Amino acid sequence: MHVLVTGGLGHIGSQLIRYLSDNSRIRAITILDNLSTQRYASLFDLPKNLEYTFVKGDILDSNDLSRAMSDVDSVVHLAAITNAEGSFDISEQVQSVNLGGTKNVLQSCIQHGVKSLVFPSTTSVYGPVSGIAREDCDRSDLKPQSPYATSKLAAEEEVISATERGDIRGVILRLGTIFGPSIGMRFHTAVNKFIFYAATGRSFTVWSEAVDLVRPYLALEDGVAAIEFVLSRPETTGQIYNVVTLNSTIDQIINEVRSNFPAAEIEYTRTRLLNQVSYHVDDSKIRALGFSYRGNLNSGIRETVEWLSGLKAKKL
Ligand SMILES: NC(=O)c1ccc[n+]([C@@H]2O[C@H](COP(=O)([O-])OP(=O)(O)OC[C@H]3O[C@@H](n4cnc5c(N)ncnc54)[C@H](O)[C@@H]3O)[C@@H](O)[C@H]2O)c1
Repeated sequence: MHVLVTGGLGHIGSQLIRYLSDNSRIRAITILDNLSTQRYASLFDLPKNLEYTFVKGDILDSNDLSRAMSDVDSVVHLAAITNAEGSFDISEQVQSVNLGGTKNVLQSCIQHGVKSLVFPSTTSVYGPVSGIAREDCDRSDLKPQSPYATSKLAAEEEVISATERGDIRGVILRLGTIFGPSIGMRFHTAVNKFIFYAATGRSFTVWSEAVDLVRPYLALEDGVAAIEFVLSRPETTGQIYNVVTLNSTIDQIINEVRSNFPAAEIEYTRTRLLNQVSYHVDDSKIRALGFSYRGNLNSGIRETVEWLSGLKAKKL
């Protein structure tokens, strides 16, 4: 199998392109990324047993996509603008890249005879559901609260439509918020941000209204394992799966970070919230297929702390 990973230099992609090297069915990986986030380091020290090719290109450019798609069997489409909070200020760009870019990727897949596509979406497409969020809830129950989440939901629909037309075998994974380190790591989501602030001696700010709200989180190792899991299972075609290592309150996360940094300072503030109710995301559908989780909050945090352990958490 030759796999194309769009956005392959990012937080998830940089781990995925390494993780897939253990899969004996995969012979080559092409990475397409526009380097907008400058994560050159994600290309350092790649495993030697696979043929890796890097294409610097944009998913908005059909020529770039054509260069990357040659001889590809499956695509994992990660490239996106991914900062939910920041997406309010650049909503048109987010729509263009996350929805328009996905349409381009699908079109290019069809032109080049690509058989399957894995699309990592987000549990934030659920928005403020009360109770348990499941994949089979009505479309009208989905209430994405940011331009980011709205664009991901619209892109999901494109993937499902192309699959229903028989153009490609698409599968959607609704991932919880990632934690755990990778060489292309980002630090703007909850768990990682708290750790980074604590490790660098800065106090971090938490929305006081949010501390008891439950949200879905996903260990990076489980995220990449889930992508690999569906990649080689045709029975997942046309399906949507929630992928969540744990549902947790911000308070639980803060306590876990604090167990590594007892002196960490936290400030509580009132501000705009994206989703204002607790929701649990149910992941029994992917578990019923045989997928099992290995990550947990404690080890994901400890591992990130370890990567940053050369720093003195000194307040300056
Ligand atoms: N990290 C999370 O918590 C999380 C949770 C749910 C879903 N997801 C989804 O998983 C995917 C990967 O997330 P991530 O955390 O690795 O994101 P990331 O921001 O770390 O990486 C995205 C990569 O895409 C590249 N990119 C952006 N725009 C591009 C374009 N127009 N053309 C080509 N490359 C482009 C960037 O340079 C970057 O390397 C995204 O689709 C995101 O929506 C992420």
